[in-house]
Amino acid sequence: MDYKAKAIAGLLAATCVFSIIALILSVVNVRDVFLPPSTKYGLVFDAGSTHTTLYVYQWPGDKENGTGIVSQVEACTVAGPGISSYADDPAGAGASLKPCLDKAMEIIPAEQQRETPTYLGATAGMRLLREQNSTKAQQVFAEVAKAIGEYPVDFRGAQILTGNEEGSFGWITVNYLLETLVKFSFAEKWEHPQDTEVFGALDLGGASTQITFQPGVTIEDKNMSVFFRLYSTNYTLYTHSYLCYGRTQALKRLLATLHQGSRSPQQVSHPCYPKGYQENITMADLYNSPCVHAPSSPSPAQNLTVMGTGDPAACAIAIQELFNFSCEASRTCGFNGVYQPPVRGQFFAFTGFYYTFHFLNLTNQQSLSDVNSTVQTFCKKNWTELVQAFPQEKRYLHTYCSAAIYILTLLLDGYKFTHQTWSSIHFSQQAGSMDIGWSLGFMLNFTNMIPTEAMEHVKGHQPSLWAGAVSFIVLAIVVALVAVFLQCFWKTT
Ligand SMILES: *[C@@H]1O[C@H](CO)[C@@H](O)[C@H](O)[C@H]1NC(C)=O
Ligand SMILES: *[C@@H]1O[C@H](CO)[C@@H](O)[C@H](O)[C@H]1NC(C)=O
Ligand SMILES: *[C@@H]1O[C@H](CO)[C@@H](O)[C@H](O)[C@H]1NC(C)=O
Ligand SMILES: *[C@@H]1O[C@H](CO)[C@@H](O)[C@H](O)[C@H]1NC(C)=O
Ligand SMILES: *[C@@H]1O[C@H](CO)[C@@H](O)[C@H](O)[C@H]1NC(C)=O
Repeated sequence: MDYKAKAIAGLLAATCVFSIIALILSVVNVRDVFLPPSTKYGLVFDAGSTHTTLYVYQWPGDKENGTGIVSQVEACTVAGPGISSYADDPAGAGASLKPCLDKAMEIIPAEQQRETPTYLGATAGMRLLREQNSTKAQQVFAEVAKAIGEYPVDFRGAQILTGNEEGSFGWITVNYLLETLVKFSFAEKWEHPQDTEVFGALDLGGASTQITFQPGVTIEDKNMSVFFRLYSTNYTLYTHSYLCYGRTQALKRLLATLHQGSRSPQQVSHPCYPKGYQENITMADLYNSPCVHAPSSPSPAQNLTVMGTGDPAACAIAIQELFNFSCEASRTCGFNGVYQPPVRGQFFAFTGFYYTFHFLNLTNQQSLSDVNSTVQTFCKKNWTELVQAFPQEKRYLHTYCSAAIYILTLLLDGYKFTHQTWSSIHFSQQAGSMDIGWSLGFMLNFTNMIPTEAMEHVKGHQPSLWAGAVSFIVLAIVVALVAVFLQCFWKTT
């Protein structure tokens, strides 16, 4: 009897231990079987007019529809100029991308490379090349596609974004990163944040500039209107891209205007360049862009000497001449007669806006008068002083005054920000640790990661529900087994 009882108690204990192990194993198995590979990756080449960047993104595979879930693992800067500069050496454009692709292949585990969506989006630099010679643009794209095709990724094509797409995807990036579209609440639901206004997006590239915002009034020109339904909320945005008003092209046009107004065909006085600065450029370099109109009577000189005069007032006047501010009386405009509703809400100003203002230490929400006085002071510094103060920056140092005054003119006279609305512009390059630009928004859209309808539950929670169910079943079995043994025990005694 004593012996029997001991044996049965031992059996019971063993059953319990095995049941617990089975329970743990079954929960682990459920996780393995029901959760997709834990991390997914996506690659986007941002092929701008002056350079190309490869962004490597990752996100947890089971939660792809949330916001703030995608993170940037790497931003690899491609050495050399933008792909549009390879018009006469298309193969060079393809080859230039390889070091960054190699780097990406080191980051993404080999077994996931084949399912990694990979895109190349080109912007205004390629829009201009296509305008100049579409055959050359196609050749560059063919070589770029060939180079990416040599890697084991899910390459989904190279394309030229329209100006509207570029603006819209920048807007999506900003609002996705700041979680103004949707938030995961404590009630375990995705919901539209209450009382949160979405942010507008201001993007300054090398060849074009984009403005995108929700105006809250009817957009009179349908060409500048885009509609999104994201997480059950409708957004009607105003967006416009001004080709040739990017930083590089605008400053090139400024130089050409100054050249054409100059008394001597070989010499140009540049009020935006620092006093004491001098450079020689070729006519071919100055007039090689479709943004720059060649003079009606080409001068015989092949070279010109540009001399800085460091005169911010004259600089501002010269920059004004790049714009046409007249507007039909019946409507509101940006510039060049382009319709634009009045700016509304908070804005993020990134890329070229940020780089220029960051150099001048103007990204801390300074007032407009502080910004103006900083720029004035900077523009009056002579070249020797500047080189001494910023020896690392020598390549672009002579352009910061022009760029700063150009940005002020664009924002105030162009987009019509005022002393009051100036404080709603946030100059920023990143949100979290993610770069702000169009590439994230582009990837989110093309991988369908922003659903139109908000979801009731997050899918990632379902496997744990399942695990709960399995645990319950296992426990029930254990209880049943114990009951059976106990019954045996009573019967035998
Ligand atoms: C465009 O480029 C192609 C290939 O380089 C060249 O053969 C053609 O002459 C160019 N066309 C124009 C209009 O410049
Ligand atoms: C400015 O644009 C208006 C039309 O919006 C046009 O009539 C005028 O000629 C333009 N001015 C210049 C200087 O180009
Ligand atoms: C920006 O601030 C830094 C640190 O205070 C300073 O060294 C630098 O000279 C400033 N840059 C300009 C353009 O004034
Ligand atoms: C988003 O991607 C889809 C293709 O998946 C495309 O049809 C749509 O036009 C894109 N949206 C925008 C604004 O480009
Ligand atoms: C995300 O949303 C898309 C479109 O609504 C859907 O097809 C996809 O299954 C969703 N993914 C997850 C992990 O919920």
